[in-house]
Amino acid sequence: MKAFRSGKPFSTGAVVEKPAKFLSKLEISGFKIKVKDVQIILTRRLAPDDIVLGLGEQLGGINRRGRKYITYCTDTPVHIPEQLSLYGAHPFIIIKGRINQGLFIDYAGEIIFDVGFTDKDFLEITITSTNLELYYWKEKLWQTIVTSYLELTGGVYVPPRWAFGYQQCRWSYPDAPKVTEIAGKFRQLGIPCDAIYLDIDYMDNYKVFTVDEQKFPEFKEFVGKMKKQGFHLIPIIDPGVKIEDGYQVYEEGKANHHFCTDINNEDFQAAVWPGLTHLPDFTRPETRKWWGELYDNFIEMGIEGFWNDMNEPAIFYTDYEKEKIFAQLQSAADAGKIKDINLIHLQWEIKNFHNNREDYRRIYHHPSPEQTVWHDDIHNLYGAKMALAFAEHVQEKYPERRFLIFSRSSYSGSQRYSGIWYGDNKSWWEHLEGNIKMLVNANLVGYFYSGADIGGFGDNCHSELMLRWLQLSVFSPLMRNHAAIGTRQQELWEFDQQTLNQSRNIIRLRYALLPWLYSQYLEYAGINKPLIRPLMWDFEDAQSADTEDQFIYGDGIMVAPIYHSNSRGRNVYLPESRWLAWNVRSWEERDMQILNPGNHYLECPLEKQLVFLRENTLIALQEPEEFVGQRNPDTLFITGLVTEQANLKILADQGSEPAYSGISVLEIDVENKNDYFIIKTKTVKKQQLPWKHVVCEIYDLNGNTNIIHKDI
Ligand code: GLC
Repeated sequence: MKAFRSGKPFSTGAVVEKPAKFLSKLEISGFKIKVKDVQIILTRRLAPDDIVLGLGEQLGGINRRGRKYITYCTDTPVHIPEQLSLYGAHPFIIIKGRINQGLFIDYAGEIIFDVGFTDKDFLEITITSTNLELYYWKEKLWQTIVTSYLELTGGVYVPPRWAFGYQQCRWSYPDAPKVTEIAGKFRQLGIPCDAIYLDIDYMDNYKVFTVDEQKFPEFKEFVGKMKKQGFHLIPIIDPGVKIEDGYQVYEEGKANHHFCTDINNEDFQAAVWPGLTHLPDFTRPETRKWWGELYDNFIEMGIEGFWNDMNEPAIFYTDYEKEKIFAQLQSAADAGKIKDINLIHLQWEIKNFHNNREDYRRIYHHPSPEQTVWHDDIHNLYGAKMALAFAEHVQEKYPERRFLIFSRSSYSGSQRYSGIWYGDNKSWWEHLEGNIKMLVNANLVGYFYSGADIGGFGDNCHSELMLRWLQLSVFSPLMRNHAAIGTRQQELWEFDQQTLNQSRNIIRLRYALLPWLYSQYLEYAGINKPLIRPLMWDFEDAQSADTEDQFIYGDGIMVAPIYHSNSRGRNVYLPESRWLAWNVRSWEERDMQILNPGNHYLECPLEKQLVFLRENTLIALQEPEEFVGQRNPDTLFITGLVTEQANLKILADQGSEPAYSGISVLEIDVENKNDYFIIKTKTVKKQQLPWKHVVCEIYDLNGNTNIIHKDI
């Protein structure tokens, strides 16, 4: 890796330990570099077979060729192809080909990646500043570049274990009785669930860090009551602080200069849910400390997880822009021409209030008393620094605990202390398909703990879409159903009996696989290797490189989700080895079939999903609980096709202590000696393992299951 520094860049914090040496002359083999006014443009020819990967949370495919992408964190509920930016900015790109190269452009303003769009044979990167740091890799294996990027930016966030359970959200469950009713339904219907979300209506007038006491009286007792039933309550936290005299957060923020300013050094004002607000300046260490401490009140009331929203930051409108329209109307009125106002133009102008670039250009940060930074240069850091405020605080105040935190906006590096969700998608099949690619793309930049709103946020969800989305989400570390106000109720019992039964099966499967899913997460996060990977990570053939609607989770599961309506099956590509096709109906039904490598059309009616286990790899399951840690079953089931030898390592911990501080290990070796199986187990910190017995269900090449019991 080589590191370059140009101009005087703002230190984004993406890289934890900066290299000892930065080169000042930007020279990268194969790239033409042009400095034009205040821009740097990097151009490189793409060979026909080059594949371009990376860029994290963006629309489009896994291979990024043929599209433009802009890193400029954007609050948008319309995820359609013309959208060139979403909520996060991850300016890390890999060119996989005869020569494998990678670039991480550590600049938190706008960068335009034209990946063979304007000219199909060229990659052109336009950085809208000359102040930046740039990291460059050229490696024999493209995978090394990804791992090295994750190491450079500090690794991967590990949430608590309960956060791998199913989670239920809606905008909003407005009061304690409604939350109680939802919780009751889960338990009564036997659908496992670990968390219920509190969207903006739990607050008093949308004032951040308040609770509406009418709707949630005795909040602390309520949080405790829910926890006893196995539910974590997760409040939304928005950055905009309502401008209201007497409101403590506002008063403290104002008195201590915690807010971003405008050019006149007045606190910048922007309207979001509460009306006019100020935006905390998270570049200031004092402000992050103050903000971090504001979570304490919730933590003391028993809250253990938060979702940070609206932190691109979203701006509904500002008075600065409003005044312009008023002035226009006033002058038309003064001239007696009010009737001549073009309403369509007026409507466009008002629409442009939302996240107006001119407004972002009015914001200033003051990371230290001597330093003033223009927001436009560090726009993409806002959400990342907001999450950092939380992470720094809990690290200092509760070093012995692990919290759930995920954010809508993010920047490279924030994957080491926070997860993300993919924002306001819709109940569209296209968005289910997009979710498959997004999981892979998010993992390639280290956001393992991430996921989409299951069932879709906007628009109305159909039962079939819900089931197919749930099936995919068994393998999405963040598994949360969320829907917008005004849309059809999306809780699983709101459809029909059959959908309810099938969704229960799917969620129970998730809980059955949880020890394995969680263990793999820990293992892959520990070695900075993507947990969810495109096929081309593991296989070198051309078809693997082209397959974007399947992915690999951990050591040995390949998932082929159904993402079209009315599908009875789909084509599946199985590379290289033999695979055990598990036509999953429920966790109990583990009849599997051996398939040879190649292309297969496989039937997959709605009650099934297509999951494949690679030859000579093993997975583990346990009897599903109603919430994580409810009973801690003492039997672990191991399954897989073993033709030679397979090894499975299960990492387990309490799930709430700092990651990797209390791991115990169960290791299982299975050897096939002419279809006679030798099983060996090894343990580290055996007393802490929840399991006492292992039941191995090992398939041989004849398709027979060999059941072997073993005590640990
Ligand atoms: C934003 C969030 C969404 C939330 C809504 C209300 O649109 O992305 O998840 O429900 O705000 O808070």
